[in-house]
Amino acid sequence: MANVKFYAGESFPLEMHKVRIIQKLNLIPIEERGKAIAAAGNNTFLLQNRDVFMDMLTDSGVNAMSDRQLASMMYADDSYAGSETFTRLERSVKHFFGCKHFLPAHQGRACENILSKTFVTPGSVVPMNYHFTTAKALITLNGGTVEELIIDEGLKINSANPFKGNIDIDKLNAVIKQYGVDKVAYVRMEAGTNLVGGQPFSLENYEQVSRICRTAKIPLVLDASLLADNLYFNKKREAGCKYMTLHQIVLRFAELSDIIYFSARKLGFARGGGICTNNDDIFMKLRELVPLFEGFLTYGGMSVREMEAIAVGLEETLDEDMISQGPIFIDYMVKELDKRGIPVITPPGGLGCHVDAGHFLDHIPQSEYPAGALASAFYIASGIRGMERGTLSEQREPDGSEHYSNMELLRLALPRRVFTLSQVNYAIDRLIWLHENRKIVGGLKFVEEPKILRFFFGRLDPVSDWQTRLVTKFRQDFGDSL
Ligand SMILES: Cc1ncc(COP(=O)(O)O)c(C=O)c1O
Repeated sequence: MANVKFYAGESFPLEMHKVRIIQKLNLIPIEERGKAIAAAGNNTFLLQNRDVFMDMLTDSGVNAMSDRQLASMMYADDSYAGSETFTRLERSVKHFFGCKHFLPAHQGRACENILSKTFVTPGSVVPMNYHFTTAKALITLNGGTVEELIIDEGLKINSANPFKGNIDIDKLNAVIKQYGVDKVAYVRMEAGTNLVGGQPFSLENYEQVSRICRTAKIPLVLDASLLADNLYFNKKREAGCKYMTLHQIVLRFAELSDIIYFSARKLGFARGGGICTNNDDIFMKLRELVPLFEGFLTYGGMSVREMEAIAVGLEETLDEDMISQGPIFIDYMVKELDKRGIPVITPPGGLGCHVDAGHFLDHIPQSEYPAGALASAFYIASGIRGMERGTLSEQREPDGSEHYSNMELLRLALPRRVFTLSQVNYAIDRLIWLHENRKIVGGLKFVEEPKILRFFFGRLDPVSDWQTRLVTKFRQDFGDSL
């Protein structure tokens, strides 16, 4: 956001856009919220949006579009093969990443499917800074394993390290040595690491990783879904990037990568995805799977209207005013909560504000899913839908035992340009109340547990009557307030 200083009092985020289309929101009474979360099996994914006040579940496909994006959708060229829209998108992606080849896909996990099917074989390994749910599930589905090699600081809730998403270079060398180069399918680096607080990696770290991969002839894959946030932090926090333009930073990341994939539900502020590479052999291999799983090579499962919007969204990603709104709002929210002793991940990252449910609800054991319990309790207290990013989001071990996550987080995503500062202040207020009443909150237990990606549609019950007691306390404290 622009450099605007304030005369009186503290500074606060100032939006460099205005709102011209609005959507009415509902805030239903707390008793109704209690019923809605029970009907949803205490899984915020299963709530009906009509029962949700602020939807902070995710930033995926729900970012506000610009006037230019909406306008571009009107001149989409709707043809199965060879559409002008695809030519425009291809031109935009190639310009953005400076790459030779682009393959369209309907979203990020579709790219992960194609990459896993092409490179992962039984017994192979994919070292990475940190996993993302779908990336890991698809690698393991194809018989591979993942090795998470994020720096130790990356798993600390509070740290002064500006690049907690960095990979540990010594650990990377050791894993390559341990498995042998032939067993390493590829190295995956995730920009703005989703599951550990939206934390970025530095360009310097990526240069080191690329050097190792090039020497060992291992493909380096960049998951650029959350690159916009990462870029912002490179520019703001990394001395070596201070005088680079955003585009120069992107191009440097791209030249260090062998393959880049992205979810355009995040990067590009629309809905879709794609894979880029400069390598002709890799391109030919990946290309075969696109018509099979996605659609013809000139749409890849995307609607032409979304493709037009992505093309414009990528241009806008190179404008600091456009990509700073998320990180600056998150910074505000994290600092306001931190000031009041509410445990949050620091430094503030991208994607959203991450509340440390492990400490917030330190009386709930991991086996009763504290992050899931906090997501449920926070919905009841506020009507705000967040997302569990903890043990519930993990898969069980092959022997059926729980795989306890490194962090138990309630992620409150800030879809870009969607919420106002007063709405963020409402979220802060309700979190303060819930924190003061945290001992009322109890755990959850599964009543229906899917085997794969259970967090999406698993159903849970509270272990006691804690939700009824939470509603009663709310009424005592807030009277007839919604
Ligand atoms: C880092 C990262 N990679 C991949 C994906 C998968 O993308 P999609 O939801 O479009 O399938 C996501 C989605 O949230 C993500 O955050």
